[in-house]
Amino acid sequence: MYGIEVRDASKSFEAGAGTSVTALAGVSVTVRPGEFLAIVGHNGSGKSTLLRAIGGELHLDSGSVTLVDEAEGRNWPAARATPTTVARVFQDPNRGTFPRLTVFENMRMAVMQSRPSVLRRAITDTYRDETTSRLSGVGLDQKGESRAQDLSGGQRQMLAIEMAFVAAPKLLLLDEHTASLDRANEQRCMSATASAARAQGITLAMVTHNLSHAIEYSDRILVLQLGEVVANLAEGDKARVGVQELARLCGYF
Ligand SMILES: Nc1ncnc2c1ncn2[C@@H]1O[C@H](COP(=O)(O)OP(=O)(O)OP(=O)(O)O)[C@@H](O)[C@H]1O
Ligand SMILES: [Mg+2]
Repeated sequence: MYGIEVRDASKSFEAGAGTSVTALAGVSVTVRPGEFLAIVGHNGSGKSTLLRAIGGELHLDSGSVTLVDEAEGRNWPAARATPTTVARVFQDPNRGTFPRLTVFENMRMAVMQSRPSVLRRAITDTYRDETTSRLSGVGLDQKGESRAQDLSGGQRQMLAIEMAFVAAPKLLLLDEHTASLDRANEQRCMSATASAARAQGITLAMVTHNLSHAIEYSDRILVLQLGEVVANLAEGDKARVGVQELARLCGYF
């Protein structure tokens, strides 16, 4: 299992006419191996930027993000993370699926991309059962031969999430991944995400505007305002904080 060490991460973007916007202003957080981190805050508070930094997609102005492999006793910069290490699910289901491929083909692509050494034939044989059971768990078992582009937005998102899990990453980054789901699927998806991550030993970092979900499912809540950490609530503190208090910390009122 991998942990994450974010140390004093800062990032500004040019905002035109010689101005700049500070997206991250000295953010530090430690995520233990297997922990579920929720990142909350108002629009533009830096949540997606922090997630991109954790995934190694972003060049920070200063500070660092380190992935920690405790079992092997190795650390390395997030920028060197590979597709076998990190999987991502975004708000837009189109970003996580291949529209012209069928549901089965999408799942197979996820396995192939994350395990380049596995032979195509072995994938077909070994992963068909796992794929079928995953798809039936999210009501997509009858859709295996449908193209992803013919699924509803919510179904496509469920597929994107299952693709992330079948890839067996060490770290799963979720950016408002339940935003396109109806209430029942949102609930189902959140509990499936949390339990699959626990069972597979995956460390989770999730951006959400659903404060109840952050409280119910995560182990740690990081609250951002204007790129700064205004609260870092571990399990004990989290239990004492209700939705109202969390909304206040987010600066909603
Ligand atoms: N690539 C970019 N170029 C310019 N500005 C950016 C870029 N990415 C983010 N920003 C700015 O950085 C700030 C933080 O953006 P970010 O996307 O991290 O916010 P967020 O908390 O994810 O917001 P939301 O809840 O709306 O998704 C915003 O002011 C945004 O306009
Ligand atoms: Mg965002």
